[in-house]
Amino acid sequence: MTKPIGIAGLCFGLLAVSASGANLNAGKTLVLKGNDRGVAACQTCHVSDGSGNAAAGFPRLAGINSEYLAKQLHDFKNGTRNDPVMQPIAKALSDADMTDVAAYFAAQRFTAALTMGDAVLVVRGERLALSGLWDKDIPACISCHGSVGRGVGAHFPALAGQHASYIAKQINAWRDGTRANDPQALMKGIAMRMPAADIAAVSAYFASLAPAK
Ligand code: HEC
Ligand code: HEC
Repeated sequence: MTKPIGIAGLCFGLLAVSASGANLNAGKTLVLKGNDRGVAACQTCHVSDGSGNAAAGFPRLAGINSEYLAKQLHDFKNGTRNDPVMQPIAKALSDADMTDVAAYFAAQRFTAALTMGDAVLVVRGERLALSGLWDKDIPACISCHGSVGRGVGAHFPALAGQHASYIAKQINAWRDGTRANDPQALMKGIAMRMPAADIAAVSAYFASLAPAK
C-alpha cells in the first residue's frame, strides 16, 4: 500500500524564495579560521569542503540547503537540538555568521568517497526508504526527503551521501529526546516507531547514494 504525502512538495512551493544576503567570503573565513570570539574553525571537523568525517560522526554539510543548515545552527543555540560539541560553537555565532557559513557550505561539492555498506543491510534499508513500513505506520523516507534522498527545499534535508553513523545518531537523538527541533515532530514519531535493525539499514542505504552535488 502506498499513501501519497504532499507535505514536501507543498513546503517546497511555499519556501522557495530566499533572499539571504549571505557573505560567502565571511563564511569561508569562519570555516577556515573560526574567529576570536570562541568559534573553532569548522574545517577541523567538517573538512573545508564540507565532506565531514564518517568515522568520527561529523556530518557532511556540502551541498545541503543553506536555510536548513542555518536553522540547525539556530536550534543548537536555542537548545532544541543538544550536542556538547556544536552548542558552544553555535552560541558564539551571530545570526549573520550563521547565514554566511551556511551559504558557504551549501555551495560546496561533496568529495568524500561513498561508503558502501553491507549489501543485505542496504537492500533492507532501500525497502524502508522507498516504501516505508506500513505495519509500523512509517511512511517512505523519500516521500519527504525527495527522490533518492536528495532533499526538498529548506525543510527536508538531503540524506544521500550523508554518513551512516551520523544518520543513525540523529534517529537515536529523536528517540531519546536530545533532538526536538523538527516541525510538527515529523521525525520524532517516525524515529520512535523504527526497529533498531531498520535504523542501521536505512542509514547504510542513504550513505551509499550519490549526493546531488
Ligand atoms: C570539534 C568538531 C566540530 C567543529 C569544530 C564544528 N562542528 Fe559542526 N558538528 C559537529 C558534530 C559532532 C555534529 C553532529 C552533532 C549531532 O550529532 O547532533 C555537527 C553538526 C553540525 C551541523 C548540523 C548538520 C545537519 O545536517 O543537521 C551544522 C549545520 C554544523 N555542525 C555546522 C558547523 C559550523 C558552521 C562550524 C564552524 C563555525 C562547525 N559546525 C564546527 C562537530 C563540529
Ligand atoms: C513526514 C515527513 C518526513 C518523513 C516521512 C521522513 N522525514 Fe526525516 N526529516 C523530516 C524533517 C522535517 C526533517 C528536518 C528536521 C529539522 O528541521 O531539524 C528531517 C530530518 C531527518 C534527518 C536529519 C538530517 C540531518 O542532516 O541532520 C534524518 C537522519 C532523517 N530525517 C531520516 C529519515 C529517515 C531515515 C526516514 C524514513 C524512515 C525519514 N527521515 C522520513 C521529515 C520527514
